[in-house]
Amino acid sequence: MLFLGLIGLRLYVPPSELVGLCLIQVSGESNPSVILHKRRPKPPFFRATTRIFFHRLRLCIQLSPFISVLSSNPGGPITQFHPTFTPEALEEKVILIVGGANGIGESLVELCCQNGAYVCIGDIDSTHGAHLSLKCCEKWPVYSDPNLPPKPPRSTFQPVDITDYHDVLGLFDFAFKTYKRIDHVVVTAGSMEPMENWFDSTLSLQAIRTPPSTKDLDVNLTGSLYVVRVASVYLRHNRGPWVDRSIILFSCAAGFKETPGVSVYQAAKHGVQGLMRSLRPYFCSPYKHNLRINTICPWMTQSHTAVTKTLCDRWEEEGLPISSATEVAQVTAGVLADDTLNGTSMYVKGGRAWEMEENITRLEPQWLGEAPSETLARGQKVLKDTWAA
Ligand SMILES: *[C@@H]1O[C@H](CO)[C@@H](O)[C@H](O)[C@H]1NC(C)=O
Ligand SMILES: *[C@@H]1O[C@H](CO)[C@@H](O)[C@H](O)[C@H]1NC(C)=O
Ligand SMILES: *[C@@H]1O[C@H](CO)[C@@H](O)[C@H](O)[C@H]1NC(C)=O
Repeated sequence: MLFLGLIGLRLYVPPSELVGLCLIQVSGESNPSVILHKRRPKPPFFRATTRIFFHRLRLCIQLSPFISVLSSNPGGPITQFHPTFTPEALEEKVILIVGGANGIGESLVELCCQNGAYVCIGDIDSTHGAHLSLKCCEKWPVYSDPNLPPKPPRSTFQPVDITDYHDVLGLFDFAFKTYKRIDHVVVTAGSMEPMENWFDSTLSLQAIRTPPSTKDLDVNLTGSLYVVRVASVYLRHNRGPWVDRSIILFSCAAGFKETPGVSVYQAAKHGVQGLMRSLRPYFCSPYKHNLRINTICPWMTQSHTAVTKTLCDRWEEEGLPISSATEVAQVTAGVLADDTLNGTSMYVKGGRAWEMEENITRLEPQWLGEAPSETLARGQKVLKDTWAA
């Protein structure tokens, strides 16, 4: 229903407001066109465009080789983030990618495997997940020294419904058992269905009696909360001294920009952003979890769902940029590899990334006023000392 939703949106949303939308993959679901067909038959052009985008997505998975230079942001505030890393940065790292069967997650799985990481894919989409894992094992095989115990496979797949807490536990158990440790966890899982407007202005006294679906919230917010909770414990295990461990969550431009017409989606994305902000000072403490947590906020991203031809044409007409799933995956891998990044949010637009959190914090006296900002800081310290000490 996203397609219809966007058409509706365009009727009353000026193009500048559309910028808050981020349309990325529905990796929590099986073939999206199948889901859409179940609900209502779509006009043939819709199916065609879906297929074109699916095809384009496949094409863009041809990963470009990485230029091996060190982080381009040594010291000082980050402005544009250039996701670059050495070939060793991801080598032998164990990375759990939740929602890794499709879209950005899929591109990230390939990028990590290509760079020598071990990847465990968790996804509700067993068909794509199992296939991708097999493909990665064939394409980037792991060579074991015959005198040493055999190494684990390059990639494995475990089906998971992240709205089920025990399923999430099962995924971590599986990854831990297979690889004996987990270094990084990335959550790209998401649902964009059934795309109903909870606050539809035409709702009647009768229609309001049917409870709305909470599926988007369950997958994107509750699911992320489950994964982060379980990850915070598993990531601490089997960890040598000075070993970097991190979590990356997927927020979106809707995590900081208003997106009219998709209020529940926006609430979920603000929730993910808030979760990262709440956890970052707590998680990074060397006396507690000693973990980094960051978010990626992609703007319009090419994917096999959501981005319809109509929207795409309009977007191009306005000269607006679109990121490929590969580009967003590269930014994500760059954040994984850079152990100085914690509590950051990378806004990704047209394949380029900007860190947002530093300026929001630093410029607070300007946007809130100096006096209120000073008082707020004192209160914040009390809250932190009381709740997070
Ligand atoms: C942050 O603010 C500075 C000016 O204070 C600006 O130069 C920079 O582009 C801003 N954005 C980012 C992402 O750093
Ligand atoms: C859920 O998150 C995924 C991944 O970030 C995104 O593709 C999807 O659009 C989101 N949906 C909602 C309703 O938040
Ligand atoms: C986390 O980031 C802050 C800056 O936001 C930095 O001062 C701190 O050293 C970082 N901590 C770790 C453990 O990397």
